[in-house]
Amino acid sequence: MDPIRNPYVPGAGAQPPALTGREDLLERARVMLERVRLGRPTKSFIAVGLRGVGKTVLLNRVRQMAETIGYRAVFIEAHEHKSLPELLVPPLRRVLLEFDRLGALSEQVKRGLRVLKSFMSGIKLRYAEAELALDIDSEHGAADSGDIEADLPELFASLGKAAAARSVPVVLFIDEIQYLGEKDMSALIMSLHRVAQENLPVVLVAAGLPQVVGLSGRSKSYAERLFDFPPVDALGEADATRALSAPAEAEGVSYEPDVLNDIIVTTLGYPYFLQEAGYHVWNAAERSPISQADLRRAMPLALQRLDESFFRVRFDRLTPREKEYLRAMAQLGPGPHRSGEIAEMLGMGVRTAGPLRNGLLIKGMIYSPAHGDTAFTVPLFDAFLRRIMPDWSPPERPIESQRKT
Ligand SMILES: Nc1ncnc2c1ncn2[C@@H]1O[C@H](COP(=O)(O)OP(=O)(O)O)[C@@H](O)[C@H]1O
Ligand SMILES: [Mg+2]
Repeated sequence: MDPIRNPYVPGAGAQPPALTGREDLLERARVMLERVRLGRPTKSFIAVGLRGVGKTVLLNRVRQMAETIGYRAVFIEAHEHKSLPELLVPPLRRVLLEFDRLGALSEQVKRGLRVLKSFMSGIKLRYAEAELALDIDSEHGAADSGDIEADLPELFASLGKAAAARSVPVVLFIDEIQYLGEKDMSALIMSLHRVAQENLPVVLVAAGLPQVVGLSGRSKSYAERLFDFPPVDALGEADATRALSAPAEAEGVSYEPDVLNDIIVTTLGYPYFLQEAGYHVWNAAERSPISQADLRRAMPLALQRLDESFFRVRFDRLTPREKEYLRAMAQLGPGPHRSGEIAEMLGMGVRTAGPLRNGLLIKGMIYSPAHGDTAFTVPLFDAFLRRIMPDWSPPERPIESQRKT
């Protein structure tokens, strides 16, 4: 079929041609945004799910929704090697400057800008001067202690007052929120607590890997009162079917019976894999309806493409020892697995394997679904590891017992 008209979009954050199975989540987001706008108490929302389930796409959709109903949106992506202030200051500055231009002089907005300036000096943020210069005096004694847990709530409160003065609510989007450090997470939670207490129109919509639930609980025990953690999972059969068939139908193309079902069985309904499979089966097909023969030709290509992109970008970030650890996990199957069993497979004690496991948790490669359990954050990663490291086998004799002899 004409590749130019191919409707499927495998790719991180790519808006799918049919966003299926997320109606409930979008409705929850809508209610939350409307409530904040009315000044009603509302929990912020952190969508939790594995890689490739559609979290980024969801945040972008909620962003469109928010902007349509008059919100100003701030969108950042957390990063292992960047602090929250570094990420937040430039867009917050933009919002406050916009508020400043938005109408008659507002003391709350001016104060917001002054507090932002003192916040920057307090935590000694260095940016290219010209880029972030604020032509305003700083507000001495406000948000400039240098302690982010004291300063960020102060900054959020002044932002919220500026937003209220302009009657423009602010929604902060944070993608990959599991990458925030504990201190940053704690400061963020305290800031949201503060704006909620003062009924200010600022709300968080975030997305992250499952470790974010533990991270926020460790950072602040009251986090669960401030946040909902709705899960974003693989699509059920009906939604997965529609994700594939609706975009084809829009192009006048159909599938032979069973083809859709076979795709759903091999992809397990994971959105990224559905898009990749749909994309290749479309290009492989000569005509409508798409047939089993087309599927047989397309699937190896789809898998190869996934190996080169979706899986590969994760694999390339690993050290050789981390690869070993994950490969040992893959030997045991899809998981989750007992951490002790993985260590044993590697010929290590659980304690010795601990730091290695911890590094992988921080990198977002694995998570702990229950105490002592370890699972992949990338669906089907076990099969990929067995493909890419086919010759791996467990060490013959455990290192521990070698030492004893
Ligand atoms: N509900 C959905 N229906 C169909 N495809 C989807 C859906 N959500 C996401 N996708 C597709 O899945 C892929 C991954 O989406 P993305 O938002 O990047 O996932 P995540 O952020 O969870 O890793 C993209 O190609 C996107 O088009
Ligand atoms: Mg994402």
